[in-house]
Amino acid sequence: MHAAVIKDKSISYLSTEDPVITSENEILVAVRAAALNAADLLQVSGNYPPPPGIREDIPGLEYAGIVLEVGKAVTKFKPGDRVMGLVPGEAQAEKLKTAGEATFLIPDGLSFEEATGFSESFFTAYDALIIRANLKEYRNVLVTGAAGGIGMAAVWLSVLKKCKVTASVRHRDLIEPLARHFLRPGDTLLSDATGSSCTIEFPNGATLTVCLPQDEPLYGDYDVILDLISGERIPTNLSMLTQNGTIAVIGLLGGATSEIDLRLLLAKRATIFGSTLRSRSAKEKAELRLRIEQEVLPHLANGDVQVAIHASFPLVEVDKAYKKFKEGKKIGKIILTMT
Ligand SMILES: NC(=O)c1ccc[n+]([C@@H]2O[C@H](COP(=O)([O-])OP(=O)(O)OC[C@H]3O[C@@H](n4cnc5c(N)ncnc54)[C@H](OP(=O)(O)O)[C@@H]3O)[C@@H](O)[C@H]2O)c1
Repeated sequence: MHAAVIKDKSISYLSTEDPVITSENEILVAVRAAALNAADLLQVSGNYPPPPGIREDIPGLEYAGIVLEVGKAVTKFKPGDRVMGLVPGEAQAEKLKTAGEATFLIPDGLSFEEATGFSESFFTAYDALIIRANLKEYRNVLVTGAAGGIGMAAVWLSVLKKCKVTASVRHRDLIEPLARHFLRPGDTLLSDATGSSCTIEFPNGATLTVCLPQDEPLYGDYDVILDLISGERIPTNLSMLTQNGTIAVIGLLGGATSEIDLRLLLAKRATIFGSTLRSRSAKEKAELRLRIEQEVLPHLANGDVQVAIHASFPLVEVDKAYKKFKEGKKIGKIILTMT
């Protein structure tokens, strides 16, 4: 098969050996699309090795494709099924084997490209917001770094919870295009005349305001802040938090260290937690998959939740796809396609 292969800290389209099913619980998938994530870039640079047992030279955490073969103990899937899911690596290849604990059947009508961009973002955002931060209906939520995969998934989940959502992006010219991704027929879009914010009112009572980071305090105090940037902005998060509020530290795009006034943490009775998804056990991923299947997949199937695709490249152009990812200023996911 062909795959995106890491060699000398760069990524190339190369020929490599096919995966082979070795356990009765595994499925073999003909991958039709695989999405890029920040972790893949770190893996290419040698800074984020996959868990033991996973090839270090093929990145890729999410895929969509067609089942080719199933192990003897597999009852949920059969050859020919359209599937999508999360894996600890190796997804950016023409074939992939997986134990399937984090595998879904693709809802009818969803393309492989849309399907592949779902899993990593929604597993991460669901785990952080709904399970760890225990997000309830009608809460005030802030999502930072909101134009990326995780940020957009977090916005959708908060909208489903009828929350008042603020989503921040650092480029003013992304504000309106990002807001438009969440618009559906019947929704109302209100733009600030200066172009520094856009608000959508949803029929279920949720609202979404897209703004610049410096305007986040205008829409606080926040019950939950899902932070993909972190670093030096953690003290600001704390100052914008409501009493008993929660900060979920999920990405460190702004840095890995911060100094906070712990008196404020105490006074607000605040919670700050961090989380990573990739190293979770198969059991934990299976439990998450079940909840997402029941609570989110129906919304993906009927279009109430969508996956935004910023750009799509054939696998043979994997180097261009990685370059595009590094350029930033994207809205949603960058996808590799396999024919
Ligand atoms: N903890 C976990 O389990 C877990 C799981 C998955 C991902 N993550 C992490 O979560 C983060 C987001 O993932 P993603 O898939 O959503 O990535 P993504 O699609 O690349 O989106 C990241 C967004 O953050 C913005 N951004 C980057 N640096 C920024 C900065 N210093 N200040 C403000 N905005 C900035 C980017 O905007 P620009 O266009 O301006 O660059 C982009 O819109 C990554 O760090 C990733 O490693 C964590």
